[in-house]
Amino acid sequence: MRVLGPLVLALCSLATLAQEEDKDCTVCTTNQFAKCFGPTCDCILKVSTDINVPVNCSKLTSKCWMMKHEMYKKKNIGSRIIIPTEHAMLDNDGIYDPDCEQDGKFHAKQCNGTDTCWCVNTAGVRRTDKGDENKVCHELVETYWFQIQLRHKPMEKAIDQAKLQEAIKNMFAGYQVDPKYIEKIEYLEDDRYIIVDLKQNISVDSPTDLATVAYYLEKDVKGSTLFSELHSRSIQDDGIPFDGTKLGFEQLYVYYIDSKNPEFSMKRMTPGIIAVIVIVCLAVVAGLVVLFFTQRKAAKSHIYQKAEGRELDEIQKQQLTT
Ligand SMILES: *[C@@H]1O[C@H](CO)[C@@H](O)[C@H](O)[C@H]1NC(C)=O
Ligand SMILES: *[C@@H]1O[C@H](CO)[C@@H](O)[C@H](O)[C@H]1NC(C)=O
Ligand SMILES: *[C@@H]1O[C@H](CO)[C@@H](O)[C@H](O)[C@H]1NC(C)=O
Repeated sequence: MRVLGPLVLALCSLATLAQEEDKDCTVCTTNQFAKCFGPTCDCILKVSTDINVPVNCSKLTSKCWMMKHEMYKKKNIGSRIIIPTEHAMLDNDGIYDPDCEQDGKFHAKQCNGTDTCWCVNTAGVRRTDKGDENKVCHELVETYWFQIQLRHKPMEKAIDQAKLQEAIKNMFAGYQVDPKYIEKIEYLEDDRYIIVDLKQNISVDSPTDLATVAYYLEKDVKGSTLFSELHSRSIQDDGIPFDGTKLGFEQLYVYYIDSKNPEFSMKRMTPGIIAVIVIVCLAVVAGLVVLFFTQRKAAKSHIYQKAEGRELDEIQKQQLTT
């Protein structure tokens, strides 16, 4: 009964308020997962497919509700959205000054102008432990799969799936991505995530530099485009053209999946799960997440083992302030 009270209340308030979502009333400062509606700005938290509980945004939401919400998300979003968890360790690697080949590719070995070196993949992301200047990197391992997770800003109208697919394809066309590389575009309505899988088979295709595409995209989402003003951009500061209006983005994660397992020493891994590196930079509006798992294992399961994140925005902030 203690539980049912708030639930009934929540369901009622949802029913009455759902039609009139107030677009100026979207932030619950104490709970980013709460959704707020209506003139009185009532906020709710989804804890199961059909249960929402009221949330008081001047207080912390109870641990029990937060855990329930997390479990709900895990069950429903499951393997599609990879959220850094207790398995995700922050690794404040920072951006580095890379060594590049003549043709603009990353050198397999990177040292950041110091005597600490490591190996990277074709996306320039570290995939080994750090070592000294004698560190050996046998090859530049291919990042063949990029999963781009874009979270869009709340929209007043429900999203039309077909129009969304079209808009996302157009967006990538603006980055010169051949549609054949877009394996799948999926929409997770509850969380407002658009998940795009870009894949290339290097042994068959002449490679598009998807790492570069992802980098340009990241900058555009963050509002610090790499394009000149003369270039017609896919993503304007207020988003992409969509259904007669604009679809804006508030978060971006990019997962880089390599064709070979990364090589981190076992002491850095949690037993039983697949190696993952997660790079998170949520400091500005967008995040960049980097993740590896083996091709073979990835097909079977998206369970992952070990994650690290690092702040990539420091340099950007410095650039902004200077
Ligand atoms: C929310 O919590 C604050 C602080 O405890 C309290 O003053 C307020 O009445 C609560 N609001 C609702 C709608 O319960
Ligand atoms: C690279 O060097 C810069 C400047 O010394 C430093 O701030 C940054 O953290 C380094 N990055 C890595 C990945 O070591
Ligand atoms: C790439 O294509 C080759 C030849 O068709 C195939 O043997 C290989 O498994 C493909 N690799 C991937 C990652 O799909």
